[in-house]
Amino acid sequence: MAVRKIIKYPEKILREKTAQVGEFDPELQKLIDDMIETMYAAPGVGLAANQVGVSKQLAVIDISVREENAPLIILVNPVITLQEGEDEAEEGCLSIPDYTTVLKRALKVKVKALDRHGKPLELEAQGLLARALQHEIDHLNGILFVDRMSRIKREFFKKRYAREKLLSMN
Ligand code: NI
Repeated sequence: MAVRKIIKYPEKILREKTAQVGEFDPELQKLIDDMIETMYAAPGVGLAANQVGVSKQLAVIDISVREENAPLIILVNPVITLQEGEDEAEEGCLSIPDYTTVLKRALKVKVKALDRHGKPLELEAQGLLARALQHEIDHLNGILFVDRMSRIKREFFKKRYAREKLLSMN
């Protein structure tokens, strides 16, 4: 296993819809193991494959640092089949360091996916896990959490980000 480099905003790959996984070969298993290690090392509660530069529909989630006994979840080709209710909570992303914002998401979701060996799985979640699922599946569709903010907030974010980038180059 190896920790991979996490791609940061505004890299283009984060904006591209990822491709379906078709083969559950050793290469995919290695990628999954590396993603798990990278998520724990960061540390973060979720990671999508395009965040490590691989444009595939694959994500890992583990919210156990926030909620005890939560399982490690590996999702291949995940799809949200149901969204219910509304929930507001603070959210961040490993690809956008040092920035969090309060964001509205569905409170409850159902997700269909495949596990790491291609076996179908179904998940029902609410609260933080539902939020993590929505955040990671967004990634796989090329959507970042800053895209879900109000227009005004997003403008502030862009300005702040541009200023910080300028400062870090000096
Ligand atoms: Ni993220």
